[in-house]
Order: sequence, then C-alpha cells, then structure tokens
Amino acid sequence: MGEPSATLFCFYKQPGHSCSPMSDKLNAQELLKEVEKLKQEIKTLKNRKKYGLVWEEKPEQVVSDCQNKLPILKEVKNKAIITDKNKPVNILMEGDNYHSLSVLNYTHKEKVDVIYIDPPYNTGNNDFSYNDAYVDSEDGFRHSKWLSFIQRRLKLAKNLLRKNGLIFISVNDIEQANLKIVCDEVFGEKNFLANLVWQNKEGGGSSDSKYFRIKHEYILVYGGVKDLCEIAGDNISNLERYKQTDCYVKTRGPFYLQKLGMGSIQYSKSLDYPITTPDGFSVTPKDNNNGKKACWRWSMTKFEWGLKNDFIVIKKDKTDVWQVYTKQYLNCDNEGSIINRTQRPFGVIDGFSSTQATKEQSGINMSKFTYPKPKDLISYLISRHINTSAIVVDFMAGSGTTGHAVLDLNRIDGGSRKFILCTNNENNICEDITYSRIKSVINGYNSLSGEKISGLGGNLKYYKTDFVSTEHINKISDESKIKLTYQAGEMIALRENTLEETEKNDWWQIFTDGKKQTAIYFKEDKTKLQSLVSKLTKTNNKAILYIFSWGKNEYKNEFSEYKNIRIEDIPEPILEVYKEINKL
Ligand SMILES: C[S@@+](CC[C@H](N)C(=O)[O-])C[C@H]1O[C@@H](n2cnc3c(N)ncnc32)[C@H](O)[C@@H]1O
Repeated sequence: MGEPSATLFCFYKQPGHSCSPMSDKLNAQELLKEVEKLKQEIKTLKNRKKYGLVWEEKPEQVVSDCQNKLPILKEVKNKAIITDKNKPVNILMEGDNYHSLSVLNYTHKEKVDVIYIDPPYNTGNNDFSYNDAYVDSEDGFRHSKWLSFIQRRLKLAKNLLRKNGLIFISVNDIEQANLKIVCDEVFGEKNFLANLVWQNKEGGGSSDSKYFRIKHEYILVYGGVKDLCEIAGDNISNLERYKQTDCYVKTRGPFYLQKLGMGSIQYSKSLDYPITTPDGFSVTPKDNNNGKKACWRWSMTKFEWGLKNDFIVIKKDKTDVWQVYTKQYLNCDNEGSIINRTQRPFGVIDGFSSTQATKEQSGINMSKFTYPKPKDLISYLISRHINTSAIVVDFMAGSGTTGHAVLDLNRIDGGSRKFILCTNNENNICEDITYSRIKSVINGYNSLSGEKISGLGGNLKYYKTDFVSTEHINKISDESKIKLTYQAGEMIALRENTLEETEKNDWWQIFTDGKKQTAIYFKEDKTKLQSLVSKLTKTNNKAILYIFSWGKNEYKNEFSEYKNIRIEDIPEPILEVYKEINKL
C-alpha cells in the first residue's frame, strides 16, 4: 500500500500563507504538520486585538513607486516671490503629497507646530481620485480606498508634528466615524483633543431636506502629546477672576481686565505704537523696571478691531495714570467645541461660512475652485496654537486657503508664522489656483467691485517633487547614493532653512539665508574639502557642512577646531528615513 494521502482545503488565506492552488495532495505527516500550523495561526488570531477598523488595503501606485524612486525637491526658480527679506519664506510644493510628506519626513521631523488638512470628503462626486481614477459612489472599495489613502499620509504627517503640535482635520459625515478610529490608532486615543463642530451654513442649509438639515462639518483635533499641548485661550485655571459683567454677558460671559502693555513678551516693533486716550493723550507701552523694552500684546489692526467691538477699555488707574486694558471674556477665552459666527478676540469676527469662503476668492487672479474653506476659520484654528512663529503645514492645500490664513493672521497679531503647502497639480491646480492665489494675496489685487486690496507681503518659494531612481529601496547601489547626494541640495537647504543657492560646482553646493550657510560636499575624494571649509569659516557666521560618505559619522570628529561648523552626513540619513517609511 502506498502512503495515505489527503486533500487539504484552504478556507482562508493569510499573507505569507501559500495555500494556492486551493487543494494540494499531502501525505499524513504533512497533513498533521499543516493542521498544527493552522492551530497555531488560529491561536494567534484569537490573541489579536479585537477592536479596530478593518478594511481591504488597496495598493497605491505613488506609494509603490517609492520602492525604486527616491523623492527629492527641485526649485522652480522663476516662481519665487520675495517682497520682504525680513519676513519668513513660505513654501509651496507641487507633487503627490505622499512624496512631499516623504521629503518632509527628512527635512521637518518633529519641527511642525500646526497641521491643517481638508482632505477630499469621498463624496463619490469626482472629489477623490485613487491611482489616477475618480472613486465614485458605486465603487465597492470606496471606503477602503479612502482609508488606505488617508492612513498612509497621516502616518507620515505624525512624524512631522512637535510634541506640543496640533493637527486639525476637516471631515464630514461620510468619513468622520472611520477617520476618528484611524486617527486614534495613528496619533493615539490618548492624544485626542476634540471633535470640533463647525457650523458651515448660516441660513437654512438645504431647507427642503426630508430628514435633518445638516448645517455643520467636523474638525478632528489631536495633539502630538496631549499633556504637552496648550490651546491658546482655553487654559482657564482661575475662574474666580471673571467677575465683571456688561451688556454682552449672555453671549461673551463675565470678564476681567488685563493690561494690553507687557514687558514680559518678546519685543516687536510692530507691536509698539501709540494709542490715543479719550482726552487726546498718546500712550505707549511702558518699559519694564529692569529696562526690558515693552510692547502691546495686540497688533494695531487687532487693537482697532478690539476697540470697535468693545474688547478694549482705556481708563485711568488709581494713581491717575492712563492704562489700556483688554476685556477677557470667559466664553471667548474658552469657546468650547462649537465654531460658529460669534465674535472672537483673535481678530477674526465674521466669515466662518462656506458662502464666505467662496466670496473670498472674488477678484483674486486664480481659476475657480469649488468648496474652499473660509480663511478666517483656518486662521482661528491656527491661532489656537500658542506659538506665533509656528510652522504650519497643509498637505491638501487646494486653493491655498491655509497660506492666505497664515499671512493674514500674522498681519492681525504681528506673528511670524510660516507655511508649507503641498498639493498635486491635477487640472493645473497648483499653478493656476494655489500659486496664483498666494501671489495675489502677497502682492495685492483689485476686488470685483474695484476695491484695492493691499498685499499682505511675504515670501514664497515653489518646489516640485522629483525622483532619483534606484534598484530597490532596500538595495541601493553606490551609483544611486552618489546621484542622490548631487541632487539632494534643495531638500537639505529646506531642512536648514537656508534657501538661497549661492554656488554650485562639481565639488560642492552652497546655500544661505543671508546669515548662516549650508554646504554639501559631493565627493569621497577629500582634496578640495579643506578649501571648502576655509571658505565657510571666513566669517564667524554659522555653517553646516554635509559631507558625502558611504556610512554615518565618518567625519564626526573632523574640523572640531571650527566651533561654528556643524558636520552632517549625506546621503545615509535620507535613505534611513525612506527605508523607515517603506516599512510603515
Ligand atoms: C478639499 S480640497 C482642499 C481645499 C482647501 N482646504 C481650500 O480651502 O482650498 C482637497 C485638496 O487636496 C489636494 N490633494 C488631494 N489628493 C492629493 C494628493 N494625492 N496629493 C497632493 N494633494 C492632494 C488637492 O489640492 C485638493 O484640491
């Protein structure tokens, strides 16, 4: 008699479990082994977590491309806008945001204070495309595709956020519940801060609706590490002091007075302006006793807004000296989780509706964009982060509202925030809409009614994502490493915030921000390295020198006599980042 044989039917297929074709001839021993293996697998499955969201992972071309294409940046120099060298330089990146986020994982790891995104809502109405095809409402994998898309990008975005950073994500009922579960997993349930309700329709909404009239959307908020996050205005530790009331008590709540002038805040010339008292005197911020220069807490525009809207009191104190105060209203200090049209002390009053958002585009030299967010809504969200020099990222930039909001908020409160916007160039959106809008708001434009809208000023650099091809991300040839080193210049310049290229030859490339310099030395051959170092150390200014090497820390102890030079390796740290991303 020959060996007994059996047929094993495979009822399910696990990744890595080779059960196809569906039936295989096995002898008894093999069968027992297989049964044992299945028992083990069932045990593992039982021990798996039982809570979470399950969906069918859908491969995405732009992600698999990164197996053999390493993302880099190329500047489009003729699109740079520079109006004021003393202001921060903002960034616009054209390309799929999976690639831009990969680059930012190298340049901005844990450096970003605020992320705002407004992803496609997956309406089934040509708003969301996956692998270059729109996902319609009949697509059986509609939610799986959206979840695969958003989860991959959120994982990359999380790495950018500072520990006290905040991420705001706009969403509506179609994906809100799914997104909350994905975010709990990516950012940690313990870092959930709020599911804000934004009332986006002021009037009736769709008033003939048979069911509920939906007049709101959501904004999910997570912190890098919740305990380290602070929401501007919300941290009310002393309710006792809200003692006074006025005619606004029903809406704004009780208030207390706080001096507008402070010696303790960072001095800024734009916050140092005269204020006229009711009897015609002019008062300026009083310098501190220890000689530190003082300024007001609010910019002049915000002060004027405050005066008009009853947030300012100018009166004499007990010693007969004129003082300027802000009224700190309880409901304005901690406004809670519903965002609607009420007045706010952040300089943002009106314009929280979707209709307002569309109006904001009028007169701006840009192609039409449907469903933008209102600028003031985004300014308001950004202003919840306490850092007025925040780095703000929006990797679903659309018409560039976040960029507009950052520039406008800086105008209102004298801040020096800067933005990084990323968008693809589907239907030429990046050039004809995002870039055109930012250019108009920086330089100024005429509204449709002919009113001249002054430019907000500021600077912008425009980059496109590009690639260095390689065999495989886990098997990178020496040739690809050399190519990457030659082409990583703009990425490194962005990492060091020294964006102006001043020199490039076969041996090195140098960038500057006007003060410090960043240099990249391309070669293994050291013959010219010393002359580059001498060049960089001519002044006492700081310099960062990236030196090509096959590994890491090869030059760590070299040039230690030059205190102003920091040495970095290239290209290994970039490759490490990309290999990590590939594992996510
Ligand atoms: C809903 S819109 C954002 C609108 C924006 N908040 C505004 O106010 O104009 C979503 C945007 O995400 C961007 N986007 C979508 N998928 C992308 C991708 N894979 N890579 C880069 N950008 C993408 C596009 O710019 C698209 O217009």
